[in-house]
Amino acid sequence: MTTVTNNIRLAEMVPTRAILSLSEDVANGLMQAPRSLPAKYFYDEKGSWLFDQICDSPEYYPTRAENMLLAKVAGDIINEQQPHCIVELGSGTARKTRHLFDACSKAGFSPTYIPIDVCDEILIACKNALEKEYEWLEVKPIVGDYTGGLGNLPRHSQCNLVVFLGGTIGNFSEHEARKFLAELRATMTEKDTLLIGADRIKPPEVLHAAYNDDAGVTAAFNLNVLEVLNRELEATFDLNGFEHYAYFNPIQSRIEMHLVSMRNQSISLGSLQKEIAFIEGDHILTEISRKFTRMELENLLVEAGFEVTKHYESEGDKFSLLLGRPV
Ligand code: SAH
Ligand code: TRP
Repeated sequence: MTTVTNNIRLAEMVPTRAILSLSEDVANGLMQAPRSLPAKYFYDEKGSWLFDQICDSPEYYPTRAENMLLAKVAGDIINEQQPHCIVELGSGTARKTRHLFDACSKAGFSPTYIPIDVCDEILIACKNALEKEYEWLEVKPIVGDYTGGLGNLPRHSQCNLVVFLGGTIGNFSEHEARKFLAELRATMTEKDTLLIGADRIKPPEVLHAAYNDDAGVTAAFNLNVLEVLNRELEATFDLNGFEHYAYFNPIQSRIEMHLVSMRNQSISLGSLQKEIAFIEGDHILTEISRKFTRMELENLLVEAGFEVTKHYESEGDKFSLLLGRPV
């Protein structure tokens, strides 16, 4: 299957189980208590570029921490694994993955790169940019939802490096993360390696600032999901009627991102022919971002069927990169 965007044909990830439509997700998520929305709907073209902007904000330390760590260890990873194929889940603009490509350039390896993302525009921008920067690099993007099952993940018969960065594993609940990693493990052989990045527990004020940047980019990113619903479902959300609210929940060790209704209001979901009533203070949970201990991360991989072959930690143990080998 393929999808066409700007006359560029993208391969589609074929799901291995039914994926709910936006209408179904919204009906399920907004009509029940507590209200929530799946995080993938943040990432339309505008949302993807807003996320990229979050990565540059002075308060959002995870990107810088992971970037510096990867710059340091990319050479070792590439020389050790010598991958024929680098598959990246939720690749976005692949800004940090460039360290792996730089290491490949240096070592004279030329693996194929397969970025997988729900956002087709960002995949195309990423392919165009990377193929200009690395003349040896073949980029074969796949558009799709990795929560629809990983059974059809492409892999090279020899040696694949599967990359999952940005702390995105923390955006899954514990149950979802276990299921996802076990599914990923099932697609891999002993010759393959998983490289995963995850955020660590740290003082609440540092976490709080990272998800409440002064310039308001995170707020704009969070609110953008309402614009997506307005466009896709003919909904009538007034973006001034909701506010971004993010805080660290120490009991569950996670950031929770909400959109809070600033007044009593009724929203119409045109194409669903439904109305939703919000009273002042009602909120929609739009994202969780779990923060881990060193041990929790290692256990997560081990329980999914990986041996942790390396655990790199950034300065001050802000962020972790782990290498897992299927056992
Ligand atoms: N890896 C990048 C981007 C992280 S943001 C970084 O570390 O900076 C999360 C990325 O995952 C976004 O690009 C988003 O479009 C993508 N994404 C989110 N949910 C997804 C899903 N269900 N399936 C596929 N991609 C998804
Ligand atoms: N994976 C990122 C994280 O958990 C996603 C993210 C960063 C995010 N900032 C956000 C998601 C703001 C929603 C809103 O850090």
